[in-house]
Formats: sequence, C-alpha cells, structure tokens
Amino acid sequence: MDLLQAIKERHSVRKYIDRPIEAEKVAAIKQFIDECNRESGLHLQLVTEEPLAFSTGLFSYGKFTGVKNYIALVAPKQGDYREAIGYQGEKIVLFMQTLGLSTCWVGLTFKNIKDAYVLNPGEELKFVIACGYGEDGGVQHPQKKPITHYYSDKRGTGEPLPDWFMRGMEAALLAPTAVNQQKFLFTLLPNGRVEAKAKFDFIGYSHYDLGIVKYHFEVAAGKENFTWA
Ligand SMILES: Cc1cc2nc3c(=O)[nH]c(=O)nc-3n(C[C@H](O)[C@H](O)[C@H](O)COP(=O)(O)O)c2cc1C
Repeated sequence: MDLLQAIKERHSVRKYIDRPIEAEKVAAIKQFIDECNRESGLHLQLVTEEPLAFSTGLFSYGKFTGVKNYIALVAPKQGDYREAIGYQGEKIVLFMQTLGLSTCWVGLTFKNIKDAYVLNPGEELKFVIACGYGEDGGVQHPQKKPITHYYSDKRGTGEPLPDWFMRGMEAALLAPTAVNQQKFLFTLLPNGRVEAKAKFDFIGYSHYDLGIVKYHFEVAAGKENFTWA
C-alpha cells in the first residue's frame, strides 16, 4: 500500500483486538521513528504491550478498548514543537497504515504511565497515538464544509487552480484533526508557494493539526510541485 492509499484508508480506530504487533513490524516502526526523531529533535517512542494507559473508562470523549500499543509523543519542554509533533506523528500514522495497523491520536483520554517510555531531562509527554490491530478499519469522518472553505488563491492571475494543489487539499481534508475541527487555511501564493496556517481553536490543538494536514498535503501534492511559504 502506498501513502496515497494509506491516506484514503486511514480512519481513527478506538477498539483493538488482542493481537500483538509482530516483531518485524515493531522493528520497522522503531527504525522509522528513529529517522523522524533525527529529523525533528523529538523523542517519539513506540510502546508495546502496555495496557495501563487505556485501562479505565473514566472519560467519555471517545471509547477506547483493547489498546496495548501506542506512540508516546515526547518532546522538549522548551520551544514550540506542536507542528513538528503533528507532522512527524502523522508520518508514523501513515507508515503504520501501510503495515496494516490502525491508529487514533489521543489528546485526552489516556493515563500517563511513566515507566512505559523514556523521558530525558527537559522533555515531557505531550500525548499519545493509540495503535495496533483494530476491530475494524474505522469510518470516514464527515465533511462539514465545502473544500473551498479551506483555501484561498492569492496568485492574482485568475488561472484555474493547479491539479497538484487540489490533490493536496483533498488529502488535507482526509487528515485527522482534534474533534474533526479542521481549523486550517491553505493559501496558494505566486511562484508555486503555499502557506498553511492554523486557525484559532478553543481546545488548543490546531497547531498539532496543522502539522498533520501539512504532511497529508505534501504527500498528495508532491513536494516537487511547491514550496512552503
Ligand atoms: C491532536 C488530536 C487529538 C485527538 N484526541 C482524541 C481523543 O482524545 N480521543 C478520541 O477519541 N479521538 C481523538 N482524536 C481523533 C479525532 O477525533 C479524529 O481524528 C477526528 O474525529 C477525525 O476522524 P478520523 O481520524 O477518523 O478521520 C484526536 C485527533 C487529533 C488530531
């Protein structure tokens, strides 16, 4: 499965079956995460066979069952790593999708099990991404607004929007965002430049979402077709 297929097939999955992730897949994911960390300065980690983070049903936002594997999103305390976490986390999400695994970003409804991952001085756990073999593949999220709501064309030429831009936008709209809020705006500028911005959101997740949707956009639009403004 390639990444474009993974974008189409990925949906948040909150119920998992009792099937451990095979050792070869664990090794491949860890290697992939190492590269993400080298690129970004983050300290993302795969935690396997650890049921305690999701063992209570105290919270009502989303219903998780059977979660034993997750990505611990560990980042430096100093500095703004929100977009980087979204971008690198979604890279891992789509990579896992190509391995036949399901995922769900989880901002709220988990317990911080401190023995389960490594925290170096000056780092903190932001939140996690649940992963593993899902009971099913999840369902497509609803699209509340038309695609035109999410972009603007500032080229000033009046030419039709390029295909690569529309492919990128469609992929951005398939991305996970916190409570499906989709608080972002892409702007097409002159000379193949694209700006992407997070809009204000009350829950404070839109800068994580921004990194996620920018990765989807890049995969579908093709990095060779544009540069980020
Ligand atoms: C940053 C972030 C935090 C999220 N936190 C939670 C959460 O705490 N609980 C939950 O059930 N889903 C959570 N989600 C999943 C979203 O609800 C989900 O991505 C959105 O409804 C779109 O659905 P989809 O992922 O199936 O496309 C989160 C998603 C993101 C991107």
